[in-house]
Amino acid sequence: MSIDPLRYICEDPLERKWAWISLILAFVMGGVLGFYALASNLHPPSNVETIDSSRLHLSEEFAEDNLGVKSNADGSLTITMVAARYGFYPPRIEVPVNTPVTLRMASADVLHGVHVPGTNMTTMVVPGYISEVNTMFTRTGEFSLLCNEFCGLGHDHMWSRLVVVENSAGGQ
Ligand code: CUA
Repeated sequence: MSIDPLRYICEDPLERKWAWISLILAFVMGGVLGFYALASNLHPPSNVETIDSSRLHLSEEFAEDNLGVKSNADGSLTITMVAARYGFYPPRIEVPVNTPVTLRMASADVLHGVHVPGTNMTTMVVPGYISEVNTMFTRTGEFSLLCNEFCGLGHDHMWSRLVVVENSAGGQ
């Protein structure tokens, strides 16, 4: 007879078969995740770069005057933003189309998320960590930058404006 260890919890052979399939799938997927985490250094977009969320205004990078879009020597842009209940600061960001963009964001209070529908920009903003996303916006227009982690009563109203404009510099 069967030496199937699942026979103690389940009588039906067909049910046992499906139980095995789902168990094996779970292990395979867990294994794939573990493999890529180790082999390709995949990790959440926090970059394991920490910051004191209660003292953002005193930090060099996330002080109010230093937020916004900055150009880098190689033509790319760095956007520095703070997420706080209930908004993203600065509330309006303008970037040229087809330009590499690095978004660096920190939360001043609780867990937020940032998501721009129709683009690949989405990340959690975990208090205590700097979230970094590298992307490029390939369409011009006005986009909403939304919070996609429930952060309190004002969560539904937490959004700001991302405007992607024609690339005036050209060739960048
Ligand atoms: Cu911030 Cu939801």
